[in-house]
Amino acid sequence: MAEVNLRKVVKRYDDVEAVRGIDLDIADHEFVVLVGPSGCGKSTTLRMIAGLEDISDGDISIGGDVVNDVPPKDRDIAMVFQNYALYPHMTVAENMSFGLRLKHYPKAEIKSRVAEAARMLDIADLVDRKPKQLSGGQRQRVAMGRAIVRNPKVFLFDEPLSNLDAKLRVQMRIEIKKVHQKVRTTTVYVTHDQVEAMTLADRVVVMNKGRIEQIGTPNELYHNPATRFVAGFIGSPAMNFVPCRLEEAEGRLHLRLTDRISFPLPPARAARYQSVSRNEPLQLGIRPEHITETKPHAEPGIEPFEALLEVTEPMGMETLVYFTLNETPVCGRVSPNAGARDGSPLRMAMDLNNMHLLNETTGLVI
Ligand SMILES: Nc1ncnc2c1ncn2[C@@H]1O[C@H](COP(=O)(O)OP(=O)(O)O)[C@@H](O)[C@H]1O
Ligand SMILES: [Mg+2]
Repeated sequence: MAEVNLRKVVKRYDDVEAVRGIDLDIADHEFVVLVGPSGCGKSTTLRMIAGLEDISDGDISIGGDVVNDVPPKDRDIAMVFQNYALYPHMTVAENMSFGLRLKHYPKAEIKSRVAEAARMLDIADLVDRKPKQLSGGQRQRVAMGRAIVRNPKVFLFDEPLSNLDAKLRVQMRIEIKKVHQKVRTTTVYVTHDQVEAMTLADRVVVMNKGRIEQIGTPNELYHNPATRFVAGFIGSPAMNFVPCRLEEAEGRLHLRLTDRISFPLPPARAARYQSVSRNEPLQLGIRPEHITETKPHAEPGIEPFEALLEVTEPMGMETLVYFTLNETPVCGRVSPNAGARDGSPLRMAMDLNNMHLLNETTGLVI
């Protein structure tokens, strides 16, 4: 059993409260990613789990035991950092086995664990090399191997891929996922990169200013963000936010975006927003993929409007288009065949079945 539980965990540095009372339950075998902008408290949280930082308040348990006062070496965790310093004078095998040798594991046991980890990481033919004879990606694998051979209760990763180039990062992301599928060790992984968080995690924990904004599966966070922060942080290009109002017209609830654009809301949305005050300052939240060119057989809730495109960005499989609604910049995603051109009008459609409505004052999704 190696679940990890955080109860009202606080970290204070003098007058800075880096972590402000975090509750988090990580299940055995689960892969949880802490994501958020730089300085939001991710590393501090991870280092408290590792025991590298004292906690100012609250409790941390690993495998059901409170570990607040247990030193790092006795917590049965293995950590992989962005700067995965390998010993330059040791071979790959020696680097991987270093921790086991310190603990006087039997030679045969060490050998089989290193061989197994090397096979899993696809570096079996490199075990006799020195770190300087390896590429960045291979070194990162060795660093992971060093963690795997210890067979810990919990893996802790702090931005392990940040030093790699973009292509290698994507490859290693897939490797890490494969390794987790095999060893199934409970994992807490820290990154500022929302794509990495979405692709790796069973559940994502979005942090902001020392607090948890929302916890959910990647799809839950993407489709049902609870706050403006999460809505804007998850997804690329980011969700659009446009000031709007609700109004009654022709006996139906409408969403008014500009003097000229007011859309009837689909019935499910109208029911959900019925009780929202008509005077409340609101924002429409809508993802670029829900603003497209018009299609021949539009479904209910997909409303046409005309946009004057300022800039278009052909991406190959799609074209990103940029225009404004009441001076608010908006991004849409159209087919490369939609005839989108810089400076030209385009007939567009907004899918209100996938809209979000936010209270501008509280930042909460309604
Ligand atoms: N040793 C320290 N002394 C004082 N403040 C610190 C220390 N370590 C981190 N902090 C502060 O705590 C906050 C969270 O830092 P950190 O957990 O490293 O953020 P993240 O990993 O999300 O980028 C930041 O404001 C940072 O400046
Ligand atoms: Mg950090």
